[in-house]
Amino acid sequence: MTNRLTKLRTDFDRELAEVRTDAAASELRDRWVGRKNGLLAAEMKSLGKLSSEERRTAGQQLNELKDYVEAEIEKLLQVVELRRVAERLVKERIDVTLPGRRIIAGHLHPITLLRQKVEDIFVSLGYHIEDGPEIETDFYNFDALNIPANHPARSWQDTFYLNDHLALRSQTSNVQIHAMQRRKPPLRVIAPGRVFRRDTPDATHNPMFFQVEGLVVDRGITLGDLKGTIEEFVHRMFGPEIKTRFRPSYFPFVEPGAESDFLCFKCGGSGCRVCKSAGWIEMGGSGMVHPNVLRTAGIDPEEFSGFAFGFGLDRLCAKMYELDDIRLLYENDVRFLEQF
Ligand code: DAH
Repeated sequence: MTNRLTKLRTDFDRELAEVRTDAAASELRDRWVGRKNGLLAAEMKSLGKLSSEERRTAGQQLNELKDYVEAEIEKLLQVVELRRVAERLVKERIDVTLPGRRIIAGHLHPITLLRQKVEDIFVSLGYHIEDGPEIETDFYNFDALNIPANHPARSWQDTFYLNDHLALRSQTSNVQIHAMQRRKPPLRVIAPGRVFRRDTPDATHNPMFFQVEGLVVDRGITLGDLKGTIEEFVHRMFGPEIKTRFRPSYFPFVEPGAESDFLCFKCGGSGCRVCKSAGWIEMGGSGMVHPNVLRTAGIDPEEFSGFAFGFGLDRLCAKMYELDDIRLLYENDVRFLEQF
């Protein structure tokens, strides 16, 4: 019996030394310690044929052999596992010194960036952002804004009409009326949006462009409030050193009306390419809301007063980025857009 076990052990050692592959390791395991057909299991069974005296010593020796074989196989499987991990690490190795691949992200359009900046300023001053329709009736486009029936702005040569009474709005001022009907004073709103005019495109014109309208209605609103607001906006936009000035002007929906300019942010007033040597940059129109406009929108002009203003976002954008041609803003050439 002892001889037999010694031979088994020598056989095992030889087979163990011959294992080269993972598959061979599993085979060795099954062959020796497999529950049903393993060599050691068969050996255990054959113990039954021995006398009880022989069985005790043989059983002890067989158990020792079994412990040995199991421990060796365990070691072997650990080596196999380590080797497998090492191989995977080599195969899946990442070269961390390789330069990264640049992810090309989209850009917000420069007009969107500017609009967001304008909105942030007015929202921080307590304004709501109001939306209005781009297709508009005569009433909101013109009548309610105190624009007389024979006013040239109403002509089909200037405005895109869809039919006799509907047109693409030619200014964001229509939102003034919607805002006054929707909200009760006191109200402070700005309305950024697209407007449409039958202009031939050139370096400074496009049939579609963007405006920002502003409207404040409350008790005791004065021209001083309007000037202070425009001034504050310009300061926040371009810096506290940038002065504003107002020139009397006429718009049917305000009385008095004014146009405002601000000192050129590029040259500080001495004259340069951006301000076309004027030292000043035109901001837009403004004024005290005409009593007729308040009345039409259902607000008593004896009790309330207000101011309104409107300016072009595109023109401002062109100045800020020193664009020679406003059409760059609509052509959506990626080489241009990705600079923002
Ligand atoms: N709607 C005018 C335009 O498109 C601009 C404007 C002028 C808006 C005076 C106003 C205003 O609110 O009070 O030229």
